[in-house]
Amino acid sequence: MAIERLVEPTLAESNAEEERMEVSLRPTAFGEYIGQEHLKNNMKLAIDAVKKRADGSTLDHVLLYGPPGLGKTTMAGVIAHELGASLRVTSGPAIERAGDLASILTNLKDGDVLFIDEIHRLRRAVEEVLYSAMEDYKLDIVIGKGPAARSVRLDLPHFTVIGATTRTGSLAGPLRDRFGIIHRLEYYKEPEIEQIIARTAGILSTEIEPEALKLLATRSRLTPRIANRLFKRVRDYADVNGDGIVDVKIARAALSMMEIDYLGLDPADRNMLRLMWENYGDRPVGLTTIAALTGDEATTIEDFYEPYLLQLGLLARTPKGRVVTEKGRKHLQNPENVL
Ligand code: ADE
Repeated sequence: MAIERLVEPTLAESNAEEERMEVSLRPTAFGEYIGQEHLKNNMKLAIDAVKKRADGSTLDHVLLYGPPGLGKTTMAGVIAHELGASLRVTSGPAIERAGDLASILTNLKDGDVLFIDEIHRLRRAVEEVLYSAMEDYKLDIVIGKGPAARSVRLDLPHFTVIGATTRTGSLAGPLRDRFGIIHRLEYYKEPEIEQIIARTAGILSTEIEPEALKLLATRSRLTPRIANRLFKRVRDYADVNGDGIVDVKIARAALSMMEIDYLGLDPADRNMLRLMWENYGDRPVGLTTIAALTGDEATTIEDFYEPYLLQLGLLARTPKGRVVTEKGRKHLQNPENVL
């Protein structure tokens, strides 16, 4: 992906510093995890049941889906921690061959949790090995080639897969069927984002005033990863241009410098809405046309720009394509949004 946006909800793969910070801020137990109450309650119950049974049975495989940055990886870590299990982390694109998956699986121990991020990007051949592994903890491998080839079934430890995907739609039916627990992560509520920023400020020993906290929360796209990233930039600004305390004046100036408007939109979001509006008005536009207008990949629009714009009601999906809503048009035309 060519874009690098401050409000990008993915973790830039090259950004080791951000990843380190995210890992250090990540809650490890349900008690520290703010928001996603419905998911937490359901997972707590399932985990308590496994623990109470204590008959060697493991937690059902869990599929977490929803927009990026909402804490799927974090939740996987919390689940493993609460189970008292070890967590092994991998991702769909990282498992290139069936043999790679076989080696991961045979190195697991009973009760371990295997987190597979972007599980919708698993290759077909790998996916097929995963089916029987998830279903009955067996690994089918072929030894040798040609007429001498024979197939053997190996026993695998009883493990739990936690799969994460931004879309369930692109997950093959048979794979989806092997998850006993399927949950959508929702956008956070503003007060929850405030709590998350306050927690981060505490961990990083930075003082933030309540009004600044509120301002940052309204501009964080209801997404913890973005909230933490904006907070970190605002904290830098306060260190350089003030006495290190984040007050509302500092926060406003820093956000304005980052060109993030009062709904949390950045120049790329506004540019997309503007191009759609100027070229098509309130008529529907196909995804590939939008991609051609902005110069992005269609999947980038679908996974990264669109979910939040839809959530805010600035954009709507119709059978004929996406339309800029009345609210979207007003947002574009409001001079206060022009930073
Ligand atoms: N940091 C990132 N996401 C969080 C969450 N949901 N709760 C607490 N801290 C977080």
